[in-house]
Amino acid sequence: MARHEDLPIPIYETLEPVYGVESQLQEALLRFENLKSKFIQVFGHSPHIFARSPGRVNLIGEHIDYEGYSVLPMAIRQDTIVAIRKRDAGEPEKRLLIANVSDKYPLCTYPADPNQDIDLKNHRWGHYFICGYKGFYEYVKSKGLDVGEPVGLDVMIDGTVPTGSGLSSSAAFVCSSTIAIMAAFDVNFPKKEIAQLTCECERHIGTQSGGMDQAISVMAQSGFAELIDFNPICATDVQLPAGGSFVIAHSLAESQKAVTAATNYNNRVVECRLAAIVLGIKLGMKPQEAISKLKTLSDVEGSCVSFASSRGSSDPVVAVKELLSEEPYRAENIEKITEENLQSIFADSPTSLDVLKVARQYKLFQCTTKLGLTFDFQRASHVYSEAKRVHAFKDTVSSNLSEEDMLKKLGDLMNESHYSCSVLYECSCPELEELVKVCRDNGALGARLTGAGWGGCAVALVKESIVSEFILNLKKQFYKSRMEKGVIDGSDLGLYVFASKPSSGAAIFKF
Ligand code: GLA
Repeated sequence: MARHEDLPIPIYETLEPVYGVESQLQEALLRFENLKSKFIQVFGHSPHIFARSPGRVNLIGEHIDYEGYSVLPMAIRQDTIVAIRKRDAGEPEKRLLIANVSDKYPLCTYPADPNQDIDLKNHRWGHYFICGYKGFYEYVKSKGLDVGEPVGLDVMIDGTVPTGSGLSSSAAFVCSSTIAIMAAFDVNFPKKEIAQLTCECERHIGTQSGGMDQAISVMAQSGFAELIDFNPICATDVQLPAGGSFVIAHSLAESQKAVTAATNYNNRVVECRLAAIVLGIKLGMKPQEAISKLKTLSDVEGSCVSFASSRGSSDPVVAVKELLSEEPYRAENIEKITEENLQSIFADSPTSLDVLKVARQYKLFQCTTKLGLTFDFQRASHVYSEAKRVHAFKDTVSSNLSEEDMLKKLGDLMNESHYSCSVLYECSCPELEELVKVCRDNGALGARLTGAGWGGCAVALVKESIVSEFILNLKKQFYKSRMEKGVIDGSDLGLYVFASKPSSGAAIFKF
């Protein structure tokens, strides 16, 4: 039997296979009705087809996908639905018109040119659709498929994944858009190819994302978390213990991954690459060889492990601790080691060059003797140790430990992951720290930030039997004061804190 990731995106004629049979189905029916009637109102026609793709919560394995390591997320029920109508070649309108059911997002208009540049300096919500549009054309071209001249598209979006929450609203949007475009052009591909393609699509928005979010959004299976491996992308079902539940809670600090890429997300990608190069050189590679061959920390892991074995260990972190300074490196010190300047090392990556530029401006602005452009290579310790925790998590779930011991061990791994993200990777923030503490004080077996961090959500592992009480306590101890200050509306609380079961991946609907 074919592995499910080798199959194309499923096409359904009813909502049941995705939304089940109870209240969730009723809710979905209303959403699709509303989407369709708004579509007709704006465009004067019915949509041809719908595609949906879910958000995700990452259980463990943070900031390691772009370093080539496996991660363990699950899809959540919140998703993005795209309704689409492809205009006929004869119709005069040759633009992409992208509307949203929510008034918060004004109509965005783009040319139908698949080679258009995305104006990253002026961020518009419709850009995410264009990521999918460009990626679709690049992909069909690479496959030698002729989908004809570009035509106009009418599009309407309905998303329920909260934005800036670390739950991958952007991947849900990019994946559902790409799949809707594919469906409108009557093509479909194996899910694992779409996972890879959508990951590349999202890089058009300027983040050097690793591929976890798109992979789980496209390949998730209802009832399972997935161990996602990269190079090549592959998903393995992970059955979570029935006695535990994952509660997702928003810190209410918004995490704007694309807008802050140069100082946060892409900065870490650059730091990891430089750490890999410096490690490689310290372990005996010629600088030029290290620069051309080492793209990620996984590329140099083997050499780190050999080094560790000379110290009686198999842990690559031993090499990081011994060979890299704990103090941040100044750019000029790295350049002495690499014998090449940083701008030329990253010459082929405009978004990495932006990382270097932002740090420079900071130095100029400060006009003091501050360190300016510095890089912290302790990030490498996070990456290597987090990669191990993912496998420990997976092994624990499939071990024959009692459920009690299993949940405790999973919780411990989540706590260790949070510590590492917070202290070594520095991608937490005060609100997340407070929230994680409130979760642990109220009986969570483990709690950690999830997603890119710098805001967004925490995920807590809680015994099934205390979920309602746990959520109630979070409301009292974390959200109440924020409601009183008007940060959020009490009636929206269910959007910010909820328990989630693993939901299913992307789907196409033709009614
Ligand atoms: C974002 C990225 C992912 C991953 C996480 C951090 O969600 O899109 O690829 O790197 O951050 O784990």
